[in-house]
Amino acid sequence: MKKSINLNRLFQYIGMILILVSFGIVMNSCEQDELVPTKPIDSSCDTINVSFDLAVRPILEKNCTSCHNNSFSAAKINLEGYDNVNKTTVNDILTKSLTGSMKSYISDECEIAKIKAWVNQGSINN
Ligand code: HEC
Repeated sequence: MKKSINLNRLFQYIGMILILVSFGIVMNSCEQDELVPTKPIDSSCDTINVSFDLAVRPILEKNCTSCHNNSFSAAKINLEGYDNVNKTTVNDILTKSLTGSMKSYISDECEIAKIKAWVNQGSINN
């Protein structure tokens, strides 16, 4: 009689371990799904006197204008050309989106830093 009780306990423990392990696998896979490969900033990232034409415009064209252009402007945000981009610097709409809702479209930390620097430097047409 005592033996069968112990066996039940054993199965209970195995069950619990299985549940914990599968939970761990699920949690782990979720974590990996959400991982966006981020390119960190290194010393080669130049954020001094960022040029709109040479730095900001190409970054936006690479990452953003497919959805925010003259003919299709998601959320009425147009990131084509200086005048349109400059409008989005009001109230930090542009910079907030880079680390907020649009984070998944830009993963290079240096590119984010350049856009932020350009805005901080007065978002001039340079
Ligand atoms: C695949 C299409 C797509 C791409 C690429 C994209 N966006 Fe968006 N964007 C959207 C949509 C849809 C919305 C509105 C809904 C939302 O906020 O998710 C939006 C909203 C915005 C807004 C409005 C405010 C906000 O945060 O919602 C800004 C600013 C913006 N995007 C900037 C950018 C920037 C900067 C990039 C490039 C790094 C970018 N978007 C890339 C589709 C896109």
